[in-house]
Amino acid sequence: MKKSDKANVPTRLFSPVALRGISARNRVVVSPMCQYRSVDGSPTDWHLVNSGRYAIGGAGIVFYEETAVEARGRKSYGCASIERDGQIPAYRRITDFIRAMGAVPAIQLGHSGAKGSVKGAMDEWTPLTAGDAAAGLAPWQTISASAHPFGTGRPPSTAMDQGEIDRVVAAFAAAAARSHAAGFDICEIHGAHGYLIHQFLSPVTNTRADRYGADRAGRMRFALEVTEAVRAAWPAHKPLFFRVSARDGRGGLWDIDDSVALAGALKERGVDVVDCSSGGITGTSSMPVVPRVPGYQVEFARRIKQAAGVPTMAVGLITEPAQAEAILQAGDADLIALARELMFNADWPVHAAKALGHGAYLSLLPPDFAFRLHRRDEVGRLPFNQVGASLAHADALVEST
Ligand SMILES: Cc1cc2nc3c(=O)[nH]c(=O)nc-3n(C[C@H](O)[C@H](O)[C@H](O)COP(=O)(O)O)c2cc1C
Repeated sequence: MKKSDKANVPTRLFSPVALRGISARNRVVVSPMCQYRSVDGSPTDWHLVNSGRYAIGGAGIVFYEETAVEARGRKSYGCASIERDGQIPAYRRITDFIRAMGAVPAIQLGHSGAKGSVKGAMDEWTPLTAGDAAAGLAPWQTISASAHPFGTGRPPSTAMDQGEIDRVVAAFAAAAARSHAAGFDICEIHGAHGYLIHQFLSPVTNTRADRYGADRAGRMRFALEVTEAVRAAWPAHKPLFFRVSARDGRGGLWDIDDSVALAGALKERGVDVVDCSSGGITGTSSMPVVPRVPGYQVEFARRIKQAAGVPTMAVGLITEPAQAEAILQAGDADLIALARELMFNADWPVHAAKALGHGAYLSLLPPDFAFRLHRRDEVGRLPFNQVGASLAHADALVEST
């Protein structure tokens, strides 16, 4: 312990974690957050600054937003993609910065399927229309498991044939290889929130009678083919995550037992962590919506971890340090992901570490920040009339940082 570090209370949240050959300094994960600010799919300065501030703030793992494996797999024109080799240097700039700040750069790969061809979040994801074409935002034909319209007011998507399925599986693998080349150390497959993979999983949106439908094993086939292809393209020393909607949204049909079965099959195919979210597909069954109370998805992380024997990540209204620590202490999950709380306070990890009594909380910040703040703390604890003397001995404080 450095001279100026406070007494240390050991925590799970701020204990390092090793996944395959990659180590993270703590278990705080920045959950993927779409920014709707990409240009032709590629990152801009916004993305560097936004991802960078989370890395500066002390998180262990920083996820980049959901990134489409092909252009039509984006939701909107502002969404990210990693479908061309020429995009790699722009992503590399971001991963280099995240790593330099002590965090692990991670990417979530996805495909919107029938949920694509929409405007951004501020426009409530309303579908693009022919009228938007004049502004260079022409709608595109979406693809899915079956040819349903995804919600009212949307044109139906095209049901994917075998050739189309093979092309998208290959696009996932190619995107994973590009992600590695771009310096990401963790890859997550987005199988949740009503996007393409979830559209195959849920009986609400998958009414196929062929080998990609019919029963649960059939509906899982596309997710597992994507996983196998990504695992093969993604280096063996790098961890692979998979985000599930553990349960569909209101009126859905895919439930937690289905997710346990899926998690077991994912584990067999080399998935290291199942990231437990929910919702995204609604229907007419009696399935209730998951109430949005603090920690509302932790029960899914617990169940999947216990029943499938795979490490899990908990997410969803986890905002308090003690709450996050308690989830880990109870063995309900192995990692804690936060989204909106980090938008509010990007330095949450530093403050959480301090609140939990982690003595070296300042060392989560860049060394020069920690140096200044240690000195401020040392001086700040002295009676006012001794501050001058203390500053005369600043070298000792320098050494203690
Ligand atoms: C602005 C924003 C963008 C999001 N984008 C994604 C995304 O790209 N991929 C994803 O799986 N979830 C996305 N989510 C969901 C979050 O990752 C997270 O699961 C959800 O917000 C619940 O966590 P929270 O209560 O800590 O915000 C997004 C959430 C927000 C607020």
